[in-house]
Amino acid sequence: MPSEKFYTEALENPIFKLIGEAAGQEGIQAYVIGGYVRDFFLKRGQKKDIDVVALGSGIRLAKAVAAKLPEKPKVTVFRNFGTAMLKHGDLQLEFVGARKESYNRDSRKPVVEDGSLEDDQNRRDFTINALALSLQGDSFGKLSDPFGGLADLERKCIRTPLEPSKTYSDDPLRMIRAIRFAAQLQFEIEKASLEAISGQRNRLKIVSNERITEELHKILLTNQPSVGLELLHRTGLLNLIIPELIALKGIEEIEGQRHKDNFWHTLEVVDNISRATDDLWLRWAALLHDIGKAPTKRFDKKAGWTFHGHEYVGSKMVYKLFKRLKLPLNEKLKYVQKLVMMSSRPIVLANDYVTDSAVRRLIFDAGEAIEDLMTLCEADITTKNPKKQKKYLRNFKLVREKIKEVEQRDHIRNFQPPVSGEEIMKAFKLKPSREIGIIKDAIKEAILDGEIPNEREPALRFMLKKGMEIGLTPAAEATKEKK
Ligand code: CTP
Repeated sequence: MPSEKFYTEALENPIFKLIGEAAGQEGIQAYVIGGYVRDFFLKRGQKKDIDVVALGSGIRLAKAVAAKLPEKPKVTVFRNFGTAMLKHGDLQLEFVGARKESYNRDSRKPVVEDGSLEDDQNRRDFTINALALSLQGDSFGKLSDPFGGLADLERKCIRTPLEPSKTYSDDPLRMIRAIRFAAQLQFEIEKASLEAISGQRNRLKIVSNERITEELHKILLTNQPSVGLELLHRTGLLNLIIPELIALKGIEEIEGQRHKDNFWHTLEVVDNISRATDDLWLRWAALLHDIGKAPTKRFDKKAGWTFHGHEYVGSKMVYKLFKRLKLPLNEKLKYVQKLVMMSSRPIVLANDYVTDSAVRRLIFDAGEAIEDLMTLCEADITTKNPKKQKKYLRNFKLVREKIKEVEQRDHIRNFQPPVSGEEIMKAFKLKPSREIGIIKDAIKEAILDGEIPNEREPALRFMLKKGMEIGLTPAAEATKEKK
C-alpha cells in the first residue's frame, strides 16, 4: 500500500527545496534516498552524504543544482556510472538517475537501463536503504516505502527488497554490508538473507579487497566488534577474508592438557579493547595479536602446549595480511606489527618482580606505543577466574605506574643518544669505524640497565671508560674536559 506520510522535518535544510526546484525546471522528479533517510528515521544524527535519485539524468540534475547555488560548486561526473557529485558546505551530494539494473556475473559493474523510482528501490541493497522522500512541489517530504523498510527499521531487521540471493549475487559486497549494518545498528539479519549469504559466499571473490576492508573497518569500529566478526565467521566469509583467524579455532587436548580456543579468545580481546579505545589500528592489533599461534603450536611432554615465537611469526604474518587486504603498508603496519611483536612483553614483566631496567627496556622498545601496548595487554586478560583477573589487572597497574615513574626520571620514550657518533670520533680521533657503534651501543645499554642516568656528562665519562677498555686512546682535550 503506497505510503501517504510526509516527513518534511527530514528536509529542513534549504538545499532540498532547491534540488526539488531544479528538478522541476528540468521537468523531472527527484528523491532523497538511502542512508540519509534511514538515519533520519533512526535518529542517528544528520548524515553529511546525501543520495539523490532523479527520474531522468542525475548528471543533468547535478549541474542544474550547481547552477542555482550561489557558490557555483564544481560538479564531478562519473560518466561510467551515470552519477555526479558536488559539495555544498559540509554536505556531499550524489546524484544518480533512477535505474533498472542487471549485473554482469563476473563483475560488480551493472548494466544500466533507465527505470522508475520503484525499479531503483528494487535494485538497492536493503529495504531500510530503499526508503525515499520526494523533493517536488506538493509531494515534498512524502515517503515512498514500497518494501516495508520503515517496518523493518522498527523491528530491527536487515532484509533485501528482492529475493536475497538475487540481491547478493548482483553485488556480493552487500553480504558484508548486511553484516556491517547488523553490527552497527544492532539489527538482526533475516534468516533467508543469512542463508543466502552463506550460500553465495564464494561470490566475494569478485569484490576488490579495498571495498572489503572498508566494510571490515566499519565492523571493527562498532561498539562490540565480535557481533560482526561472529556473523562473518558463521556465514563462512571470515575464512575467505582472514583465514589466519579461523586457523586459531578449536581446542586440542593431549594427555589431559588443553589450550584455550584462541579464536574466541581473540574476539573477546577485540571487544575488551573496544571499550577502552576507538583507535582503529589498536583494534586491528587486538584482532591480530595471536595470529602467530596457529603455525607455532606444539605439544611438549614437559611444558604442555607452547606457542614459542608466536609474536615474531605473527608480526611477519601481519605484513602479508596487510599486503593481501590492501591495508596501508606504512606506519600503521609498523605500529600493528610492533604491538603484535611485543604483545607478551608486559605479561612477563607483570609476572615477575618489576625492575626499573626491565621497564626502561620496555619503554625503549615500545616508544610512543607504550600506553597502547598496555591497553592491549589489559584487554588480553580474558580469564573467567575472578581472582586471577584481579591479580593480572593489579600487576599491570603496577607496570603502568612504574612506566610513569621511570619515564619521568629517565626520558627513554624518544630515546636520543646523549653522545653522538661524531663526538665519539672526535674524543678518540677516530675515522668512521665499528668502534663507534660499539661505544654508542654500550652507552645505550648502560642507560637502559640503570648503570648511568640518561644525561650527557655521565654518558661522556662512560664513553671514555668504554673506549679505553676496548683499547682506544682518548685525545688529550677529551680527557682534560672530563677528568
Ligand atoms: N547501495 C546498494 N548497494 C551497495 C552500496 C550501496 O544498494 N553495495 C545503496 C543503498 O541504497 C545505500 C546507498 O546506495 O543506502 C548509499 O550507499 P552508501 O553511501 O555506501 O551507504 P549508506 O547507506 O549511505 O550508509 P553508510 O554511510 O553507513 O555506509
